[in-house]
Amino acid sequence: MINDNWTIRELGRGELAELTELETRCFETNPWGKAKLEASYRDRATTITVCVRGNSIIGFCIWRVFPPESEILLIGVRPTERNIGVAKAMIRNVIENSRTRSVKTLYLEVSNRNYPAITFYKASGFVESGVRRGYYRSGADALLMACKIQ
Ligand SMILES: CC(C)(COP(=O)(O)OP(=O)(O)OC[C@H]1O[C@@H](n2cnc3c(N)ncnc32)[C@H](O)[C@@H]1OP(=O)(O)O)[C@@H](O)C(=O)NCCC(=O)NCCS
Repeated sequence: MINDNWTIRELGRGELAELTELETRCFETNPWGKAKLEASYRDRATTITVCVRGNSIIGFCIWRVFPPESEILLIGVRPTERNIGVAKAMIRNVIENSRTRSVKTLYLEVSNRNYPAITFYKASGFVESGVRRGYYRSGADALLMACKIQ
């Protein structure tokens, strides 16, 4: 998926270090880190898409498909590149890919304390579908959110 500003494509083998740096910037207090990102890259059921401008990764999305469902595991955008539609474009890309693989619902979970992300997901078509109380180490609840794919 290409527009005038950026390209959305799968992560390349040589880009894991750059992804790890960006993921740490996005999730400073509790990043997945190099080993888990590498494992996701190797996992055939998991896809890592990146949004690239010039030679830089400005956003990433880690997701997996198990028809009729798919799930977003992690999404992040470089702090200096937020609020210009990068994450929304990556979600759209996941939805389009999922649709071609007979997926009916896209799920994710998010901390009930992550207001920016919850607002973002609602703006992207997700609705709350459940809650896991005290799910995170911090004591925060996990909100389950779902997006129907037509
Ligand atoms: C959440 C995050 C991925 C959003 O990325 P983004 O590229 O800035 O989002 P977009 O520019 O695509 O925004 C899309 C919509 O969400 C809304 N939105 C995005 N960030 C928002 C914020 N901080 N507060 C309120 N609304 C927000 C936008 O207003 C926009 O709505 P619109 O389509 O009605 O105009 C980004 O803030 C981020 O990386 N946060 C840190 C990591 C994180 O918490 N990830 C999610 C948990 S896995």
